[in-house]
Amino acid sequence: MRINIFEAAARLKAGEVVAIPTETVYGLAASLHQPEGIQQIFSLKKRPLTNPLIIHVECVEKVLGLVSTLPQDFQKLAQAFWPGPLTLVLKIDEKKVPAIARAGLSTAGFRIPLMKITRDLLEMTGPLVMPSANLSGKPSSTCLKHVENDFGENFPVLEGENSEEGLESTILIFQKGKWVIGRLGALSSEDIAVVLGYYPELIEADKSKEAPLCPGQLFRHYAPQAKLIFEGSTPPQDVHFVLGFEERSYAVDKKVLILGSLEDPHEVAHNLYAILRQLDTENVTEAWVDLQFPREGLWKTIAERLLRAGEEALNR
Ligand code: TXA
Ligand code: MG
Repeated sequence: MRINIFEAAARLKAGEVVAIPTETVYGLAASLHQPEGIQQIFSLKKRPLTNPLIIHVECVEKVLGLVSTLPQDFQKLAQAFWPGPLTLVLKIDEKKVPAIARAGLSTAGFRIPLMKITRDLLEMTGPLVMPSANLSGKPSSTCLKHVENDFGENFPVLEGENSEEGLESTILIFQKGKWVIGRLGALSSEDIAVVLGYYPELIEADKSKEAPLCPGQLFRHYAPQAKLIFEGSTPPQDVHFVLGFEERSYAVDKKVLILGSLEDPHEVAHNLYAILRQLDTENVTEAWVDLQFPREGLWKTIAERLLRAGEEALNR
C-alpha cells in the first residue's frame, strides 16, 4: 500500500512500522520511542534480537542528544559524509535509547540519510530505527516493488524514488584509537582514508568471539534461492544463467543477467540486489557469477555482497 509522507509520519508516531526509501536501500522504520514498533520490526523481518538496528536522524544535533562521548575525528567524518551512506557506531546515553533497538549494547549505529523525502519524514517523526526492508537473509530492497514482494501489497510503503546507491551504508566503529570498518558499504574505504589520513581496517566477523564487533555480519545475508557458482573464469557448460558484465561475451547458449559496466561500479551496485532478486522471480536454481573485476573502491563491497549471497545456508 503506497502512502504519502503525512500518513507515514502519523503511522510512525502511533507506533506502527512503515517501509521508507533511502538512498542506500529501503528501510523498515519504527520510532525510536515506540518499543512495540521496534519489536514488530524484528518479528516482521524474522530478525534475531541480537542484531542491533541503526538509528536514523536528520541532523548532527539529534545524534549529539543521544550519545555519551564522541570519538576522535567524529566531526571530520560527520562533516565529510553526512548526510550520506555512512553509519557511525557511538557510545550512547543508555537512558535515551531503548535496549531493544541496540540489542542491549552500550553503543548504537547512527546515520543521516541523504534522500530528501527521508529527511523530511525524520523532521516530522524524530529518530527512526530502520534495518533494510527485506526478510532477514534475503537481498535488500532498492525499490518499492521489492518491499511488496517481501511483505505483501498491503504493507505500508512511503512512496518515493528508487535507492540510488543500491548498497547499504558503510559502518565505522571506533576501536583501540582507530576507526575500523564493521561492514563494507556504499562509501569506499579510499574515500574514508582521504578524511582520516589512514585506511580503516576491515574487521571480519568472528563466530568464536563472544562479542562480535558488528553483530549483523554473523548472519546469512543477501541470498537468493539459487546456488551461486564462483569458480573458474568462464561459466561451466551445464550452468545456464550468468551474472556478468556488458563488455564481456559469454557462450551463446547462456542467459546473461547484466550487472552493468566494468567501467561503472556505481551502476553495478545500483543493479545488484534487483538482479539477485530476479533469480528468485525466475526460479533459477543455479547461476555462475563473473567475479573478474578489480578489488578497489566500491568493487570491494560488490565482491563481498556477491560472495555472501552465495554462502551456504548456515544461519537461515
Ligand atoms: O544503509 C543502511 O545502513 C540501511 C538503511 C535502511 O539505512 N540500513 C541497514 O540496516 O542496512 P541493517 O539492520 O540491515 O544493518 C544494520 C547493521 C547490522 O550489521 C548491525 O549489526 C550493525 O548495523 N549495527 C547496528 N548497531 C550496531 C552497534 N551498536 N555496533 C555494531 N554494529 C551495529
Ligand atoms: Mg540488512
